[in-house]
Amino acid sequence: MSIQTVATQPIAGQKPGTSGLRKTTPEFQKHHFLENFIQSIWNGIGGVQGKTLVLGGDGRHFNTEASQVVLRMAAASGAAKVIVGQNALLSTPAASNLIRKRKADGGIILSASHNPGGPEGDFGVKYNTANGGPAPENVTAKIYAATQQISEYLIYETQDIDLSAIGESTLGGMTIEVVDPVADYAELMEQIFDFEALKAMFAGGFRLRFDAMHAVTGPYAKAILEDRLGAAPGSVINGVPSTDFGKGHPDPNPIWAKPLVDEMMGPDAPDFGAASDGDGDRNMIVGRGIYVTPSDSLAALAANATLVPGYAGGLKGVARSMPTSKAVDRVAESLGIECFETPTGWKFFGNLLDAGRATLCGEESAGTGSDHVREKDGLWAVLFWLNILAKRQISVADLMADHWKTYGRNYYSRHDYEGVDAEAANALMDNLRARLADLPGTSVAGLTVTAADDFAYDDPIDGSRSAKQGIRISFDGGARVVLRLSGTGTVGATLRVYLETVETEALDMDAQAALSKVIAAAEELAQIKARTGRNEPDVIT
Ligand code: G1P
Ligand code: ZN
Repeated sequence: MSIQTVATQPIAGQKPGTSGLRKTTPEFQKHHFLENFIQSIWNGIGGVQGKTLVLGGDGRHFNTEASQVVLRMAAASGAAKVIVGQNALLSTPAASNLIRKRKADGGIILSASHNPGGPEGDFGVKYNTANGGPAPENVTAKIYAATQQISEYLIYETQDIDLSAIGESTLGGMTIEVVDPVADYAELMEQIFDFEALKAMFAGGFRLRFDAMHAVTGPYAKAILEDRLGAAPGSVINGVPSTDFGKGHPDPNPIWAKPLVDEMMGPDAPDFGAASDGDGDRNMIVGRGIYVTPSDSLAALAANATLVPGYAGGLKGVARSMPTSKAVDRVAESLGIECFETPTGWKFFGNLLDAGRATLCGEESAGTGSDHVREKDGLWAVLFWLNILAKRQISVADLMADHWKTYGRNYYSRHDYEGVDAEAANALMDNLRARLADLPGTSVAGLTVTAADDFAYDDPIDGSRSAKQGIRISFDGGARVVLRLSGTGTVGATLRVYLETVETEALDMDAQAALSKVIAAAEELAQIKARTGRNEPDVIT
């Protein structure tokens, strides 16, 4: 066993995006690609000498090999300890919890989230800081700078380390502690939620369907929902993680989790349906006969939070990403608490959570979470909903109808144009950006523009400014269009068009119908068809 110093050169394209570095698996497997990036993380954070790190991933293809590399590189650079999930598995929220609970200095999460996995799929590496959350922009900037200067990396030459058995071993001077990936997380959930009320609900015949989408949440969902809470065996489906997610797309939305949605809309639907993504931080909530948008889910959780023991004292504040609908804003207003609008990406919530300014956070992209960890948390959101239903003894459909009656309904949809020519997508954004100042007061597709800007965020805690975070155009009456380019895609550009309108009377419309004018306005403003060469979006959620 010896430490090797390997000469290398900067590799282009190692700039972390919305959520770490995400590339196709073949790209990640290229010579030195992973090693360069890991060494650049070490270099960007001031080294790992004497530090304790957490390591785990969502189990996709290359997870096993990459975790061996991370361990060998951590040991070679003098880390004191790495706490790693058994078989190198950890859901993203479980990793965040472990970093916090064990007071680690940071962690490496191997995941490309909801992107497909497998030899031709995607892979990703994310660095989380000591608060358990994704590295903020000032840290990712240092990591990126390090990728551009790298000239060598350090790695231990050794046999593969056995990660299948729980316990401790050493690699050079570093301790490797293999832990049960589920235990600490399950314990945290038990502290937050009323497990007795949930057990009673399941004992009373409440029927649940949880689709783990062949991804990492399967073991977590089985252990908590079936084993601890008594949901009927088989309530968790697709619960065995596989390296290519059963050749599926582990993204919990009505497109990729269609079989679940179909079942929930069918004649013998269970009481509650839910799904989670590749690394377990996203969630989809479906009631019998009703799909709940993530924006509405955040609002409903905020409105009912005090029914959950962990939030019985009330919420300090709420936060949503800018493109997320404003449904939660009205709940915050009625609760008399602050509501923050942040750029897309969970890393922007970290400061607000750390400072005790926000308790609940959410994104329209199926992400909901709270100050219990510093990542969004799929299974936590499911338990939150179940806890509310158990306390209110009400169906999801009735709960939402009641919510909309009280607060009004924000009809919402996101239209994605994927794999668009990057130049054309940038030109579309640039062209619109150049016209923003002239838009207020003009009429577009029958709607009057009241405000138009390119969203810039001034972090209220550390004062940092993040500019160019998406174009937002508001219309008279509360409707809104937001356009931005994805920061997680791996092929070409993905244009996301977020559409929203508010109704206080017509509460039972089809979302696309309710949004027809806003959709027409977006097209007229941005000439999406002409500029992308697409007649319709690839994905509508
Ligand atoms: C997408 C979502 C965003 C989420 C991120 C990571 O990023 O839109 O809300 O935080 O994935 O899960 P995007 O591809 O839009 O940059
Ligand atoms: Zn995810």
